[in-house]
Amino acid sequence: MAAMDITPKTVVLGVTGGIGAYKACELARSLMRAGIRVRVVMTESATKFVTPVTFRALTREPVAVSLWDEPDAKIHHISLGQEADVMVIAPCTANVIAKLAHGRTDDLLTTTALATEAPLIVAPAMNVHMWRKEITQANVAALRARGVMFVEPESGELACGEVGEGRLAAVDSIVAAALEELGRARELEGVCVLVTAGGTREPIDPVRYIGNRSSGRTGFAIAEEAARRGADVTLVTGPATLADPFGVRTVRVETALQMRDAAEEAFDDADVVIASAAVADFRPAEASEGKIKKDDAPDTIELVPNPDILASLAERKGSRVLVGFAAESGDAAAGARAKLMAKHLDLVVANDITEPGLGFDSARNRVTLVTAQGDEELPEMDKRVLARVLLDRVTAIMKG
Ligand code: C5P
Repeated sequence: MAAMDITPKTVVLGVTGGIGAYKACELARSLMRAGIRVRVVMTESATKFVTPVTFRALTREPVAVSLWDEPDAKIHHISLGQEADVMVIAPCTANVIAKLAHGRTDDLLTTTALATEAPLIVAPAMNVHMWRKEITQANVAALRARGVMFVEPESGELACGEVGEGRLAAVDSIVAAALEELGRARELEGVCVLVTAGGTREPIDPVRYIGNRSSGRTGFAIAEEAARRGADVTLVTGPATLADPFGVRTVRVETALQMRDAAEEAFDDADVVIASAAVADFRPAEASEGKIKKDDAPDTIELVPNPDILASLAERKGSRVLVGFAAESGDAAAGARAKLMAKHLDLVVANDITEPGLGFDSARNRVTLVTAQGDEELPEMDKRVLARVLLDRVTAIMKG
């Protein structure tokens, strides 16, 4: 049995300038009672409601407010971000939500939120009209799309005297959200995950190729999320314009044959394989060594089938969890079920590629998760959110 991890987990608690700031004191206490180390970072306006001394006394840790004070020798916003297993901002004002949505970092709290790799939970609190304003809702939607979690404000009497939604969620709900995220934060520690992503390019000559419109976004998001949860991740990707995900071993290939070789190499150590790549099913039988001149254009290009990477890996499945993708036109779930059986997969992510604006080359998708137990239709969502849901399901399968 693995040694028990007794290092306390750290929540960086961001407190912004709303009347609900006093409830953050109770929140800090509740988190600490759950055995969590709490580091508080406040905005200047928050200090008008509750003083840093209060949080310092409650958490027995220094409280950070300014980008310019130096409670320790480290670069503060970076070190706070690194210490966080989860960052919670409660209460979060409309102003800070707007800043987060636009990547503005004009104080220590917003700088830490941008610098951290930890999951971010936001508990908004504001006047009902501010909450309902289209711009606030658009900012919330933009943050949600990037994987920020919200603990919705409650409805009731507000400090301003009005009645409506905008009151900070109950402390227990915020604690529950933080505990759930902390549970996920290291749940894939010690697990090796292999992800294939992107499309392959099958050369016709040194200049031209047969390819497809896959952007690689889904696979990159899955790899990044798995690494965030502590997995040892290898991402084998066809050409993509995306940067290597943080903390992921990224292997860039061009062709299906190269992808097969790289995937085979990483497979032995893998506990989980997620094959999101859109591998070209065929390649030109021969690639011309020189550029084919316009006048020498062949009438036909002979194609030969590429190996099915996932199917051949599945023959050596062992105890691994295997996830495939099925991009189909029409009844995607039916195609996915066939694939689940044929390739001995644990889960297939099915999507209908004829849905306008979704799937290939888009940031969003609407998919159905197909397992032997049945189908789970998910709503349209950002691919980063999809990565989170998918890894939750994979973890559940691993736990049996
Ligand atoms: O059978 P189909 O190509 O639709 O299966 C799709 C699934 O198989 C995807 O998970 C894809 O990454 C994988 N695949 C593969 N190698 C191929 C074709 C598909 O790994 N040559």
